Order: sequence, then structure tokens, then C-alpha cells
Amino acid sequence: MSDALLKLDTVSKVFGGIRALSDVSLTVPQNRIVGVIGPNGAGKTTLFNVITGAYRASAGDVVFDGQSVTQWPSHRIVRAGIARTFQNIRLFAGMTVWEHLLVAQPHQGSMLRRVLPSRWADPKAWARAEEALEIFGLQTYRDSIARTLSYGLQRKVEMARAMTAGPKLLMLDEPVAGMNHDEAEELRQLLLRLQGRGLSILLIEHDMAFVMNLCHQLYVLDFGALIAAGTPAEIRTNPVVLDAYLGSETAC
Ligand SMILES: Nc1ncnc2c1ncn2[C@@H]1O[C@H](COP(=O)(O)OP(=O)(O)OP(=O)(O)O)[C@@H](O)[C@H]1O
Ligand SMILES: [Mg+2]
Repeated sequence: MSDALLKLDTVSKVFGGIRALSDVSLTVPQNRIVGVIGPNGAGKTTLFNVITGAYRASAGDVVFDGQSVTQWPSHRIVRAGIARTFQNIRLFAGMTVWEHLLVAQPHQGSMLRRVLPSRWADPKAWARAEEALEIFGLQTYRDSIARTLSYGLQRKVEMARAMTAGPKLLMLDEPVAGMNHDEAEELRQLLLRLQGRGLSILLIEHDMAFVMNLCHQLYVLDFGALIAAGTPAEIRTNPVVLDAYLGSETAC
């Protein structure tokens, strides 16, 4: 198998008259952390939606783990090993952290099987939930109603839930939005540990200090097109990027 876990080849997405993505090609190598940055409305979340099958690409190819997944439905893509979190936190009212990790695991079968009570008795589901709880240090909050937790903790619950799918690639849409500095630093260390255990990570983030200190490779989107790719050091000094996006940033 090639070194690339995820490979996008000239992917485009058109909504009516809007060209949200235009010939985007990028690679996430095995066991690497890759960032996507760019101004609001650049197409970053759309890119995630196309990769995960929430939207169908208008053109181009998405190859994951050696297979073209471009036409696959999202549940099949989850099963293949891609899990994600959302820009807007999606947690269920009234459900505890533990229930999120157990019941809301990205399912391995039909919708019907997901809602059947047998899930509660599935020892593998319990083991995955326990492990996710531990990885994200959420044991203390096991029986808390997830929606009552701080924003930073809610984001962790979402990431823990994504990890219960046992992904090869974890995709995070603005994971530190709403986190304070300490929480963001703690998350940075945690993601590095996950990468150390073999996970690949693709993340969207506006927090430049976070991105620059975490990612091995960055892609910059602007108006749906890639305007640059490179290491954080290369991106930081790229005149095109400075002009389009980083010019007003001081954090990096
Ligand atoms: N379902 C949709 N239907 C129509 N247009 C859409 C849809 N989803 C996204 N768009 C448009 O695609 C463009 C890119 O949006 P997207 O949400 O991907 O940007 P983004 O880079 O994630 O922005 P932000 O940093 O604000 O989250 C925008 O013009 C948006 O209005
Ligand atoms: Mg977005």
C-alpha cells in the first residue's frame, strides 16, 4: 500500500451556481497530522462533507486506504475507517457522556441495529467506550449530561465518540473553537499521543498557533481552491497565503 491514507484528486463541489470546491487535490499520509486552513467560506467544511460522503463530489476522486470511496454512502465510509466531528457541536439532549459513547457510536450496521437495546450488551461497544473515555480523560464526567458540560469538554465528548468507531483517520472540524488556552494545549498533546499510536488526523482550524505547532503539513483553501501547501514553516512565510489569509493574523 502507498504511503497515502487519504488522497483527493481534483475534487470539485458545486451548489447551484456556487463553486464551493474547485479541483482540490491533497494527501494525508499514514500516521501524520494534516491541517486545512483558510478564510470563512473558503470551502473547508464542504471538503470534509465530500470526504465523509455527506455530500457527493461534483467531480474528482476521493481515495481512502487504496479504495475509491467517492460514491460511497457515509456509513460505509465510517466503516472503512474515517470518523469526524462537526463544526457545530452535535450532542443529544438528556444523554450522559457514557450514553453518547455507547449508544451514539458510529454504527457498524443498519439504522435498526443501532437503536436496538442489544447495543447495551455488546462487550466490544463497552470496551470501545471505556477506552475513549480514558483517552480523553472523561471518566469524571461519565454520568454527566453531556450538554451541561463546558464547551471544551463537549468538544472532547464529540472526539471521544468519533474514536469509538476505531478510525484510521480522524477528521476534526475546528476542534479548539471555544476552548481556552490550557484546554487547547491539552488537546494538542492528546492528538500528538493519538498520532503516536498510529492514527492519522485531518483537521480544520482557525487557531494558527495550534495549527502551526501541531500539523506536519498544511493546505490553504481560498474561495474553494487550494492556494498553497507545505509545512507550517513554509506556509507561514508564503506571500500568497500572507496576502489571502495570514496577513491579519498575529498568533502564529
Ligand atoms: N449545502 C450547501 N448548499 C449551498 N451552499 C453551500 C452548502 N454548504 C456550503 N455552501 C457554500 O459553500 C461555501 C463554503 O462553505 P464552507 O462551510 O465549506 O466554508 P468554511 O471554509 O468551512 O467556512 P467557515 O470557516 O466559516 O466554517 C460557502 O459559500 C457556503 O455558503
Ligand atoms: Mg466550516
